[in-house]
Amino acid sequence: MLIAGFVMHRIKDIDPMQDTLRKIATISHIVGRVLDTATGLGYTAIEVSKAADQVVTIELDPSVQEIARLNPWSQALFNDPKIHQIMGDACEVVQTFEDESFSRVIHDPPTFSLAGELYSGAFYQQLYRVLKRGGRLFHYIGDPHSKASGSVTKGVLRRLQEAGFARVVRKPEAYGAVAYK
Ligand SMILES: C[S@@+](CC[C@H](N)C(=O)[O-])C[C@H]1O[C@@H](n2cnc3c(N)ncnc32)[C@H](O)[C@@H]1O
Repeated sequence: MLIAGFVMHRIKDIDPMQDTLRKIATISHIVGRVLDTATGLGYTAIEVSKAADQVVTIELDPSVQEIARLNPWSQALFNDPKIHQIMGDACEVVQTFEDESFSRVIHDPPTFSLAGELYSGAFYQQLYRVLKRGGRLFHYIGDPHSKASGSVTKGVLRRLQEAGFARVVRKPEAYGAVAYK
């Protein structure tokens, strides 16, 4: 799926399934309740739900949800009772969650130029607040070798540390980083 010309999943030399597995492997093992901040076609939510107790997943755009309904590979989003979908802006929805209510967070936002607020220090502070002590966050950022993502990465790592995360580690194989609370 394309949003404003950007592919939602990696497709060059890799397929969306492998892309999803690489993201999730960075925060293994999966335990407890998982927050997926940006549903998209639901691949990350569906994959983590296999090991999690519950997955809460948030999507802003109703047309993305409509396409997911038509997509054979997204059906578990609508059928799996462990997946709880919320339609809304993750920046607002996350503020309603209790402190330390998730063991893992998957943050797979659109590219920085389309959704800067999902890369802000204020949003990272909220993700830190809702994550349990010992919890892990995966943040997808984009190809670390591309000019655009390379410069975004530096700011992301700095703001995650400023938000309180004890350790932030680049995960180039998954085009992102993991932050540990
Ligand atoms: C890269 S996709 C997520 C892909 C997803 N992890 C998957 O496995 O299919 C990002 C999604 O975030 C959604 N989005 C954009 N802004 C958002 C916001 N403020 N809150 C929640 N979702 C948002 C977009 O509509 C898009 O569907």
